Amino acid sequence: MKGIKILSTGHYAPSKVVSNDDLAKVVDTSDEWIKSRTGIANRHISVDQNTSELAYLAAKDAIEKGKIDTAKIKYILVATFTPDDYTPSTACIVQKKLGLNDQEIMAFDINAACSGFVYSLNIIKGMLQKDEYAIIIGSEVISKLIDWQDRGTCILFGDGAGAAVVEGSDEHLFYSYNNSTGNEEALYCKGRTFNNISEGYLYMDGREVFKFAVDAINKSIQNLLSQSGLTLDEIDYVVCHQANYRIISHVYKKLKADPGKFFMNLQEYGNTSAASIPMALSEMNEQGLLKENQKIICVGFGSGLTWGATLFEW
Ligand code: COA
Repeated sequence: MKGIKILSTGHYAPSKVVSNDDLAKVVDTSDEWIKSRTGIANRHISVDQNTSELAYLAAKDAIEKGKIDTAKIKYILVATFTPDDYTPSTACIVQKKLGLNDQEIMAFDINAACSGFVYSLNIIKGMLQKDEYAIIIGSEVISKLIDWQDRGTCILFGDGAGAAVVEGSDEHLFYSYNNSTGNEEALYCKGRTFNNISEGYLYMDGREVFKFAVDAINKSIQNLLSQSGLTLDEIDYVVCHQANYRIISHVYKKLKADPGKFFMNLQEYGNTSAASIPMALSEMNEQGLLKENQKIICVGFGSGLTWGATLFEW
């Protein structure tokens, strides 16, 4: 298939909302500091729902909104770095929750941190055959990996899930760009290994990651424009991983681009890693912003350090 078509989108965020003022009661911070450094006002935090439950609810939302014929679903991919378990994969648990466990489906997780959803789109484009559907989900419960006493990280992240039902298409253009650098120092959360049985909290070198992120988005946009022969004026929306409004605004200022092209909903959800791009697409769809044949660039970037980008037509 030449490209993909997104048939429908859905999302789910846990009902518990934690505001900046709520956090200021726990750590030495303020609403003003957080908003001016990140743009984030709220984040949604899971009390008792795991990553698979969030993923299932987002997938169900997409299936219902698109009135999707689930018999055509051949693949379920869940992008996450916060799976319920080491095994089975979150995707297999979602398959069962959706009642699709008797169907011939390939289900697996992708761990590319905040690049996971875009990596998944780029992978599935090479797999889908005619008349086959895939559900691509980004889902995270990052709150369980956060040190809630660390003001450098706890203000940034939130929980949520977004999903897209995707079909192969020869009529829709598609370009992709993927990369990683094998960096273990800038952003990590250590798990069980042979010589370390303690599972640690998320660690991030904020300044290092900030510089990397601005550079990765720039490189991604330039690469996709050069592959496609399009100009940024011909792109309707750029949907970046929703990490921080200062990262995104740096990019549109540098490119002298219209800020209105760069959708943001991070003020409500914070950084939800692999979930942030599909949640953004789903909210844009709900708001009626997405129209047939529009050209959209999505850029994910995060731990690894990884980055991945896609240019596709709606
Ligand atoms: N509230 C108040 N003060 C805080 C704070 C908080 N939540 N977090 C850090 N500070 C303090 C620091 O302790 C430091 O104080 P000091 O000067 O007395 O030592 C000061 O603010 C500056 O810290 P610094 O880490 O240099 O701040 P910064 O301007 O780089 O902003 C981030 C920190 C995390 C907001 C910023 O680095 C960033 O956005 N990085 C990218 C993060 C990201 O999006 N990662 C995910 C990518 S997938």
